[in-house]
Amino acid sequence: MMFRRVFLFMALMATNSIAFAVQQTYIVHMDKTKIEGSVHSQDSTKAWSESIIDFIAEASMEGEELEDTLSPQLLYAYETNMFGFAATLSEKQLKHLNQIDGFLSAIPDELSTLDTTQTPNFLGLTNGKGLWSASSLASDVIIGVLDSGIWPEHVSFEDSGFSPIPRKWKGVCQQGTKFTSSNCNKKLIGARYYFKGYEKFIGKINETTDYLSARDTQGHGTHTASTAAGNVVQNANIFGLAKGSASGMRHTSRIAAYKVCWLSGCANSDLLAAMDQAVSDGVDILSLSLGSIPKPFYNDSIAIASFGATKNGVFVSCSAGNSGPFASTVGNGAPWIMTVAASYIDRTFPTQVKLGNSKTFEGTSLYQTKNQSNQQLPLVHGTTAGKKREAMFCTKGSLDKTLVFGKIVVCERGINGRTEKGEVVKKSGGYGMILLNSENQGEELLSDAHVLPGTSLGASAGKALRIYLNTTKNPTASISFLGTRYGNIAPIMAAFSSRGPSIVGQDVIKPDITAPGVNILAAWPPKTSPSMIKTDKRRVLFNIVSGTSMSCPHVSGIAALIKSVHKDWSPAMIKSSLMTTAYTLNNKNLPISDLASNNSSSANPFAFGSGHVNPESASDPGLVYDINVNDYLNYFCSLNFTSSEIAILTKTNFTCSQKHVVHVGDLNYPSFSVLFSRTVQNVTYKRVVTNVGKSESGYYEVKVEEPNGVVVSVEPRKLKFEKLGQKLSYKVTFLAVGKTRVIGSSSFGSLIWVSGKYKVRSPIAVTWQ
Ligand SMILES: *[C@@H]1O[C@H](CO)[C@@H](O)[C@H](O)[C@H]1NC(C)=O
Ligand SMILES: *[C@@H]1O[C@H](CO)[C@@H](O)[C@H](O)[C@H]1NC(C)=O
Ligand SMILES: *[C@@H]1O[C@H](CO)[C@@H](O)[C@H](O)[C@H]1NC(C)=O
Ligand SMILES: *[C@@H]1O[C@H](CO)[C@@H](O)[C@H](O)[C@H]1NC(C)=O
Ligand SMILES: *[C@@H]1O[C@H](CO)[C@@H](O)[C@H](O)[C@H]1NC(C)=O
Ligand SMILES: *[C@@H]1O[C@H](CO)[C@@H](O)[C@H](O)[C@H]1NC(C)=O
Ligand SMILES: *[C@@H]1O[C@H](CO)[C@@H](O)[C@H](O)[C@H]1NC(C)=O
Ligand SMILES: *[C@@H]1O[C@H](CO)[C@@H](O)[C@H](O)[C@H]1NC(C)=O
Ligand SMILES: *[C@@H]1O[C@H](CO)[C@@H](O)[C@H](O)[C@H]1NC(C)=O
Repeated sequence: MMFRRVFLFMALMATNSIAFAVQQTYIVHMDKTKIEGSVHSQDSTKAWSESIIDFIAEASMEGEELEDTLSPQLLYAYETNMFGFAATLSEKQLKHLNQIDGFLSAIPDELSTLDTTQTPNFLGLTNGKGLWSASSLASDVIIGVLDSGIWPEHVSFEDSGFSPIPRKWKGVCQQGTKFTSSNCNKKLIGARYYFKGYEKFIGKINETTDYLSARDTQGHGTHTASTAAGNVVQNANIFGLAKGSASGMRHTSRIAAYKVCWLSGCANSDLLAAMDQAVSDGVDILSLSLGSIPKPFYNDSIAIASFGATKNGVFVSCSAGNSGPFASTVGNGAPWIMTVAASYIDRTFPTQVKLGNSKTFEGTSLYQTKNQSNQQLPLVHGTTAGKKREAMFCTKGSLDKTLVFGKIVVCERGINGRTEKGEVVKKSGGYGMILLNSENQGEELLSDAHVLPGTSLGASAGKALRIYLNTTKNPTASISFLGTRYGNIAPIMAAFSSRGPSIVGQDVIKPDITAPGVNILAAWPPKTSPSMIKTDKRRVLFNIVSGTSMSCPHVSGIAALIKSVHKDWSPAMIKSSLMTTAYTLNNKNLPISDLASNNSSSANPFAFGSGHVNPESASDPGLVYDINVNDYLNYFCSLNFTSSEIAILTKTNFTCSQKHVVHVGDLNYPSFSVLFSRTVQNVTYKRVVTNVGKSESGYYEVKVEEPNGVVVSVEPRKLKFEKLGQKLSYKVTFLAVGKTRVIGSSSFGSLIWVSGKYKVRSPIAVTWQ
């Protein structure tokens, strides 16, 4: 009894003192205008940040026993995209920030996660023609890829034939483990790595499993960088599949790799430092295939840094996330970011599963074998494969070797990784694996590099197979691997692609656009297995993976193409050109469908935004919707942001005028989101379009496809442009008619300005709330 009480007391003491000294990383935003003087008295933002840290260290020491207080530590000073610093602080030290002039906010650091070739052809990019013609490829565009690093020796990043590094480039090739300055060349012109914030979360980086340098161990960064701007590589393939020439969207762009993601994620403090550096290094495009939970813009690190980058003329493209098909899951949804959804291309890697009762189902796999056996083998699942409940998921240690030896094991998706299940089956002596989708995963089929003869099947095939297993005495099956097939219906929206409406800003439609993101072939490091399983000894030069992580760099690379032919265009103009020329019909001329709905209904703007990216049309859009910094300031005012919230985003001292009230919907966005409620049933938005057409004059007429239950009127209905660069404005009124709608329901339409070959299309999404 006595012992127990003493023990409890001591335990309590221990946790108490730990809690007291515990530090956390904060991203601290400061108002630059309020501290300008004191910054100038120092020679740099860094020195100034250090002096703040010293102040906090001294202030928090007063009246404390020394051992209780860890000194605050400065990790980074930020000055290009935002103004402030990242530091580790205790709760008490955090409070002292309030005593400093110009303190705006301290946001706890967070780990973001990576959102895990036939594509140029599918996108209509052809060598020697249009955007891929020699003259347009002569210019230099630099794409900064923030990811898990890069494998610099990969053939996709060779530099033969490249002109010298652009003069504006100020970046470096940072030395590190197995990475020297000679690893960069005229293609991969820069590489840096950031880990201070990450180590505060996870602890020291284990150098036996990751390189403390920009070198990529995960494969993700090598894959995304080569998708955006990899060289043309003839005869690229994986196990003979998807054979053809692999190429980035703009294969003459330069790449700068910023490694911010390590094995357990990417710390926002590191990400911000990399974005700051990338913009001052001179990148034109930033590609971010990562994200975290949506937050208000002034609390969202990626949104804040992207705003600064956009102000500096840098185009920012981000993945929408892989949390679909559920509504309001889209991330990276700030209006100045290009938010990219993912869809299928026309290529598949089919398999055929044949059951003992002769029924057949089509699945998919990257597994290939020269020794194909179409022999029927016994089929086991759940209780017939192992005693544990988890046997149905084929988790580690759940399968019984005597039950699965030489058989095909049926595994349900979930709990552990898809290729990991195959490894478990193989280790237990199983011959093959059939992976079944649940109802939620529907007919989504992702092709994986399984370590044994394995295939995925969709939900309806899964349902039939489960019934067969349950009603048959000795169930059997065979799996055949059918290689590569082209010409499937495409694009189709991937079920995993995150959906709108955006939870933080319903006043713009998000995502903005869709691009290829399913079963994408791109460069892979030679040290990483294609299944990403350690025991898998196979090595490939190219790998096939899926995710909005894969669609984002497609758009980054295409933005570089547009930038190369329109050097003076703002990020908003590039974005507008990509959005208003996106298409919504598939290769059979029918509306693009959505795999998330099992009655094959068509996809809506909350799945694909304006539609599928169309590079050649985007280079000549006719009209664009431009947005400048002032427009964003008015937008923040219309959202009722406080001046300190605005200062976090803009680094400026701006007070919203009381008189001049701008409607949220007036942001000059190339799409329309309308929110109706019981009290709001008639709204009017303003827009300004700029003539960038090939001929100076242009006569545009508006065409409207009205959403159900809404009357749309446009004033004026005709726009007559007389010169290039001319801006004309119009108003569009949305009026709810008919009976009141169910709260949360939406209907969709579009508004198109037509002049000859030009069709400047904006989707309309009306939501009742
Ligand atoms: C910020 O703007 C307000 C109103 O325009 C002005 O009164 C104030 O002096 C400005 N502050 C700084 C530090 O520039
Ligand atoms: C924004 O961040 C601040 C500082 O961390 C926090 O106090 C506030 O609750 C956050 N606001 C929202 C809406 O998340
Ligand atoms: C680093 O990783 C290796 C391989 O996984 C492991 O054996 C080792 O214990 C790790 N080291 C530390 C310090 O965690
Ligand atoms: C080819 O497949 C048959 C039947 O599955 C098997 O018996 C044989 O060992 C395989 N041969 C090789 C070389 O893998
Ligand atoms: C498909 O339809 C079935 C029944 O009609 C339903 O239970 C299931 O949730 C639907 N799946 C999806 C992904 O919508
Ligand atoms: C077989 O049927 C039983 C009872 O209906 C059910 O609980 C079980 O999940 C089914 N097994 C499979 C593999 O579908
Ligand atoms: C099926 O599709 C129609 C439109 O084609 C849609 O209105 C309906 O809600 C869909 N049903 C389900 C269950 O998804
Ligand atoms: C901003 O505040 C005004 C006045 O309180 C209100 O009418 C308006 O709806 C608010 N706007 C938003 C976007 O919250
Ligand atoms: C809707 O608003 C417009 C512009 O404010 C106005 O001209 C029109 O009369 C309104 N319509 C209705 C039916 O209220």
